[in-house]
Amino acid sequence: MKVRAQVIKEEGEYPSLIDYQMNVSDQNIVAEVICSALNHRDLWIVKGQYGRIKYPVILGSDGLVKYEGKKYIINPGLEWGDHQAYQGPEFDILGMPSEGCFAEKVQINEGYLYQKPEHLSDEQAAALPLAGLTAYRALFSRAQLKNNEQVFISGIGGGVALFAMQFAIAYGCEVYVSSSSQDKIDRAIALGAAGGFLYTDDDMDKQILKSVGPMDVIIDSAGGPGFSKLVNITSKGARISIYGGTQGKASFSPQRLFWNQASILGSTMGSPDDFEKMIQFVNAHKIKPVIDSVFHLQELNQALEKMKVGGQFGKIVIKNKA
Ligand SMILES: NC(=O)c1ccc[n+]([C@@H]2O[C@H](COP(=O)([O-])OP(=O)(O)OC[C@H]3O[C@@H](n4cnc5c(N)ncnc54)[C@H](OP(=O)(O)O)[C@@H]3O)[C@@H](O)[C@H]2O)c1
Repeated sequence: MKVRAQVIKEEGEYPSLIDYQMNVSDQNIVAEVICSALNHRDLWIVKGQYGRIKYPVILGSDGLVKYEGKKYIINPGLEWGDHQAYQGPEFDILGMPSEGCFAEKVQINEGYLYQKPEHLSDEQAAALPLAGLTAYRALFSRAQLKNNEQVFISGIGGGVALFAMQFAIAYGCEVYVSSSSQDKIDRAIALGAAGGFLYTDDDMDKQILKSVGPMDVIIDSAGGPGFSKLVNITSKGARISIYGGTQGKASFSPQRLFWNQASILGSTMGSPDDFEKMIQFVNAHKIKPVIDSVFHLQELNQALEKMKVGGQFGKIVIKNKA
């Protein structure tokens, strides 16, 4: 089947919109993609900074699709496996190696389709799957968040970070954020955050301890040299969930970690059970994803450039249908 798609043909290339020959597996259905959304993963793959890249590749792990007249979002965590605690050896993510949603149509096993939450627009629904799932697991399945806890979320401009903030606020927690931008902090406060700090300040940890005290749960995707400040702001029994390593290797004070009986928990996307619970939570609390901007499928490279610069606040969405 020929499909119009944004395809990266070889290493070092950006995607280009072409007619692509898709070989449809017997296990899959073919659905029309209405909207899709970017994740940082797409940018890592474009930059060649991701494991096991196979070319040609159609990126796009998030999609809102139409199938037999109904709208569905796709769980992009494929073949999670048998354990809630961790993914199995067959685990993969929609949009490399399998063909993703930056195309007119996508092939997917019907079991990964979930009814679109009714309170969301098409753009909002497409923004939800990967980032919502990652935020849900990091907060609830891994950090075992309790309501009334004090929560810190770093890099609030990020797609996952904003979901984590919205979920924790909806759950009744007091949420503080960090960013490189005061404007993003102000926007987070307008959405219900209790306050925010610039991670570019060398003494951010001291500012936090002095003004609002230590944090019970910390959600981070940066790692890097700034990670030590996150360990410094842990409360007794704190949990740090880390799902990304944008800033590379981290070092920190082990003394602070063990004295506080704190834990560092790695988290990656989530199981089908996490996905189902995430959708239930979004429906129950009528959470609406924060959309930074919307591009058309033919403007995918502009959308990727926007993410590269890092100026976004929330999800960058693609309208696949003109
Ligand atoms: N393991 C998983 O399952 C999983 C799932 C999703 C994402 N990830 C990873 O998590 C990271 C974020 O993904 P995303 O899709 O949410 O990306 P994104 O929307 O592009 O957001 C990236 C954010 O990182 C923040 N940031 C940059 N430098 C920072 C620093 N030194 N300290 C704190 N925050 C910093 C920025 O926040 P400000 O703009 O506020 O400064 C930026 O908005 C990526 O590395 C991605 O690969 C992993």
